[in-house]
Amino acid sequence: MSRCLVTGAAGFIGSHLCGALLELGHDVVGLDAFIPYYPRPIKEANLHGLLQHGRFQFLEADLRTDELAEAVSDCEVIFHLAAMAGLIKSWSELELYSSCNILGTQRLLEAARYEGTPHFIQISTSSAYGREATGPETSPLEPCSPYGITKLAAEQLCLAYQNNFGVPVTILRYFSVYGPRQRPDMGYNILIRCLMENKPFIKFGDGEQTRSNTYVSDCVNATLLAFQNRDAALGEIFNVGGGEIVSLNTAIGMLEDLMGKRAIIEMRDPRPGDQKHTAANIEKITTRLGYNPRTPVLEGLQAQVTWQKESVRNGHG
Ligand SMILES: NC(=O)c1ccc[n+]([C@@H]2O[C@H](COP(=O)([O-])OP(=O)(O)OC[C@H]3O[C@@H](n4cnc5c(N)ncnc54)[C@H](O)[C@@H]3O)[C@@H](O)[C@H]2O)c1
Repeated sequence: MSRCLVTGAAGFIGSHLCGALLELGHDVVGLDAFIPYYPRPIKEANLHGLLQHGRFQFLEADLRTDELAEAVSDCEVIFHLAAMAGLIKSWSELELYSSCNILGTQRLLEAARYEGTPHFIQISTSSAYGREATGPETSPLEPCSPYGITKLAAEQLCLAYQNNFGVPVTILRYFSVYGPRQRPDMGYNILIRCLMENKPFIKFGDGEQTRSNTYVSDCVNATLLAFQNRDAALGEIFNVGGGEIVSLNTAIGMLEDLMGKRAIIEMRDPRPGDQKHTAANIEKITTRLGYNPRTPVLEGLQAQVTWQKESVRNGHG
């Protein structure tokens, strides 16, 4: 069994990945700086179950400033999820986004290079493609938000470290991940909260924008496949998406039905940097790594609703 480092371990997807790695029998080092993009108690709740586990070690450390050798030492793999996510704040907080997403990645790559880490899995995003993200991995990269630009820069840094210093890299571009522990700034989380509290939900644009929704356990499975099939994954970039494409209007209808009430909708213009259509082309990861997203959107949304209701009951909502 391997020793694995997961950065961003207290976050939405990172905490699920740590749990899955522990279940497979690996030793997991989770690293996170609790960047206050959303409240620390939510991240502490994400970590709660992991901290009870004997094979989980948590390091509170900032990739931008802290010594990383101890975290990286003897790791078979680094899953690099830590980042400032979410595009809206990236217009006004570029320094935070660029330092976490670019400088943080570069310092981690340096540590991996120094320690000779056998596999560095960089978590990237469909935002690297820009307004439309519907093609294969070779599609033009034209990010339309500072967030997307910093994440693309991080990808490029990984490739530069691979090409110049032989750091073995795989890049995974996730598409709109949802499910239990989804970040509180993300659309479905906000919509479910608005429905629970009978508050207006602000719909940016006409609602016909589509998303390749990826249920969090499918996204984690894709990430594990990249680790387990190292030879096939090395040096490669893969899209990671769910199988079902739904528009915002369709998702609103699904959540209204699941929660048995109508949403109060307020319309606004689309926001700068918003993507119009994402439809993950997952042919490459399906054929090369055997990925197969399993969770239908309705089932995934039901799981998220159940989790959000529970979180409110436990005081983390
Ligand atoms: N959620 C999605 O739909 C989605 C889609 C595409 C890509 N991604 C990518 O997946 C990854 C995880 O996203 P998430 O939704 O779980 O976000 P999240 O905000 O819940 O988790 C990210 C974690 O990284 C930590 N972090 C940030 N900067 C750090 C630093 N300098 N040092 C140490 N820790 C730091 C934060 O404290 C946070 O807990 C990110 O790289 C994001 O770009 C997410």
